[in-house]
Amino acid sequence: MRESSEPSKPWRPFTSKCCSAEGQIIFGNLSRCKTSRSDFSKNIAPMPSFRRLSFSDLSRSSSTRINEDLAHTFGPDLYDFQLSELRAITQNFSSNYLLGEGGFGTVHKGYIDDDLRQGLKAQAVAVKLLDIEGLQGHREWLAEVIFLGQLRHPHLVRLIGYCCEDEERLLVYEFMPRGSLENHLFKRISVSLPWGTRLKIAIGAAKGLAFLHGAENPVIYRDFKTSNILLDSDFTSKLSDFGLAKMGPEGSNTHVTTRVMGTYGYAAPEYISTGHLTTKSDVYSFGVVLLELLTGRRSMDKLRPKSEQNLVDWAKPYLRSSRRLRYIVDPRLAGQYSVKGAKEMAVLALQCISVNPKDRPKMAAVVATLESLLTLKDMAVSCGQWPATQKSTRNGVSPKAIRGGNVRKSAPVTQNRKR
Ligand SMILES: Nc1ncnc2c1ncn2[C@@H]1O[C@H](COP(=O)(O)OP(=O)(O)OP(=O)(O)O)[C@@H](O)[C@H]1O
Ligand SMILES: [Mg+2]
Repeated sequence: MRESSEPSKPWRPFTSKCCSAEGQIIFGNLSRCKTSRSDFSKNIAPMPSFRRLSFSDLSRSSSTRINEDLAHTFGPDLYDFQLSELRAITQNFSSNYLLGEGGFGTVHKGYIDDDLRQGLKAQAVAVKLLDIEGLQGHREWLAEVIFLGQLRHPHLVRLIGYCCEDEERLLVYEFMPRGSLENHLFKRISVSLPWGTRLKIAIGAAKGLAFLHGAENPVIYRDFKTSNILLDSDFTSKLSDFGLAKMGPEGSNTHVTTRVMGTYGYAAPEYISTGHLTTKSDVYSFGVVLLELLTGRRSMDKLRPKSEQNLVDWAKPYLRSSRRLRYIVDPRLAGQYSVKGAKEMAVLALQCISVNPKDRPKMAAVVATLESLLTLKDMAVSCGQWPATQKSTRNGVSPKAIRGGNVRKSAPVTQNRKR
């Protein structure tokens, strides 16, 4: 299941206690970790013994002590940067170098020279400057360092290093030249993503999740959404943001109980109502992203008419019928999509968003299904399936919306195309 483009580091699972409960232990004694029998974790390297630390320890710890602990755990795998170094490479976090801003702060582009650190090659990087109001920001920073510091996979963004100086918390990642999937799918300035590229992105992201779920001690990503799927120059997709990631249940436990966190519109219904978290919660979120790729609509869009604001609720009635499906496929594709591929993707999305988590497929199966769609060439535009006719009124989509009369100021340009 490994990819070949980047050497994949074996995943060393944490103990069951690591990151097990919100605000509790995040580091375990790594030397006691069980090795996994899964494909992802063969050839486990000897693990460094590590002192047990908890969030509360760390919250009281000085930044010097945190740095020592992290350096001890990760050694040369992660660089421990000084704030002055990161200031220098980002022109003092200048707005000209701003790549984006999320809930926890800004992300700036920076350039690392050959001579910054021994062994670190010259490259562009993305520096996330965490706005750590209270403990939560610190926890997310730490979870990110711990998860991404250990996890290496071609479909996970690479964490190069971190900075912990007094109250400052920063993260340094490989730079992803094409930014986030969110920007490509929903921002007006971007050219519409072709069908094949959407498929490639979905497959890459699915492989990233399959990797996380495939370990004997699975990792639940918990924040799967388009803004956390970053794109390389060739549209290889990589998951970023492990601040909310959790270790999955162990032994006879079926789920992890947590405070409900994540992003509305992507979170699985049972997780929202009970706080019970499983890998199947990620599968639900994956299904939502598949729908976003298929329709070009956001998972939650308050600017649309009430009945269309929630993508899952709106799209569900169209997904079962290939006849009706064409009315919800992203009009920006202009019929340049495989009819069979869209149908299979819709069925897959429907399975992923099943109300019962047990009915949702495993991510490895999702990868296999999506890969089987890559060779399909039955483009809608050449099969007489596009443009979709106005019969759609019966299906609840107004002809006006399909024609392009429903474009709102901040909406994606998806419906603005002339037919
Ligand atoms: N490694 C990277 N390379 C290039 N751009 C990046 C990188 N990491 C983040 N970005 C850009 O910065 C933006 C903000 O990222 P960030 O993860 O802080 O917030 P978000 O994902 O948009 O929201 P949230 O706070 O909910 O995670 C991303 O959408 C992306 O455009
Ligand atoms: Mg993010």
